[in-house]
Amino acid sequence: MARLCIIEGDGIGKEVIPAAVQVLEKALPGLEVTQAEAGWETFTKRGISVPAETLAAVRNSGVALFGAVSSPSRKVQGYRSAILTLRQELDLYTNLRPVRSLPVISPRPGIDLLIVRENTEGMYAGRERLEGDTAIAERVITRSASYRIGRKAVELALAAGRRRLTIVHKANVLPVTDGLFRDTVREAAAELDAEARGLMIDELLVDTAANQLAGQPEKFEVIVTTNLFGDILSDLAAHWCGGMGLAPSLNWGPEAAIAEPVHGSAPDIAGKGIANPVAAVLSGALLARYVWEMPEVAQRIEGAVRAALAQGLARTGLPTAQITRSIVERL
Ligand code: NAI
Ligand code: MG
Repeated sequence: MARLCIIEGDGIGKEVIPAAVQVLEKALPGLEVTQAEAGWETFTKRGISVPAETLAAVRNSGVALFGAVSSPSRKVQGYRSAILTLRQELDLYTNLRPVRSLPVISPRPGIDLLIVRENTEGMYAGRERLEGDTAIAERVITRSASYRIGRKAVELALAAGRRRLTIVHKANVLPVTDGLFRDTVREAAAELDAEARGLMIDELLVDTAANQLAGQPEKFEVIVTTNLFGDILSDLAAHWCGGMGLAPSLNWGPEAAIAEPVHGSAPDIAGKGIANPVAAVLSGALLARYVWEMPEVAQRIEGAVRAALAQGLARTGLPTAQITRSIVERL
């Protein structure tokens, strides 16, 4: 039977994760659920954002659903973002962020793109320091990480029958780091015979990609990019899902996977019972599709979400409990 470790985290994580678990338990009877803690609240209580037993619990079940954590935007001695720690410690090198038009709530129909973001290095390598009055962040791009994310993006694109893979970079300004990323992804694609198999590989500078994502999102099929660019572009693209409450994601590595909504802990609405659980529910569907390899379960969950949205019963602003009930009833 499928096993799932849940990590609610901070803020609305505590509201949307129980909602997603209700949906998953209905769609997948017998699911074994365990719970672990991480985040800012955990840090203030215990002095560590991801306790060793949380890492062990995720390793043990292999699959987790994570809510969101709060991170201060000033340096706090000893604190490191829990989700970054989990991604790096568990080597969850792929961050999948699908963006699809949803009924009624999406500003536009016809969008169906997959953002594949490198998830372990780049600007989030954790190499930030102060030298006198100069603050320095090192942006680390390795050949090995670029190769494996390139390969993964090509494999996912081919498996989904996609015809275009766009490498997004800024190699005009960062020719050494982003040049390596771009060239290595192209090598991985060539090794997999991507073009002969019907997958066109092209590339865009990140600023142009942002402009086109805002203006002509339906032109994209699969995007592969580095960590920070993927973070920013996927928040932009979440607009096309219908807002931050609707966009799911999956952190995925060889030994473990952690699904999580793209949104954060939303302190402005936390505790009010109005967080939209759809992003968390659709993140659960990503586990079913990619990790448990149960596409029919994923389809049932996505179908129930679309049906609830089509009837106006899952729009952001409605109570979390009411949206959850509407989805569960439509499974
Ligand atoms: P946020 O995503 O938490 O919120 C942005 C806006 O979207 C807010 O107005 C919020 O109310 C709304 N929103 C987000 N999720 C929603 C939902 N499910 N339903 C309805 N409305 C929703 O981003 P923000 O405010 O920039 O960051 C807040 C905290 O979250 C920060 O401490 C940040 O570090 C953390 N964060 C954590 C992430 C993670 O755990 N993976 C990702 C992004 C931010
Ligand atoms: Mg983000």
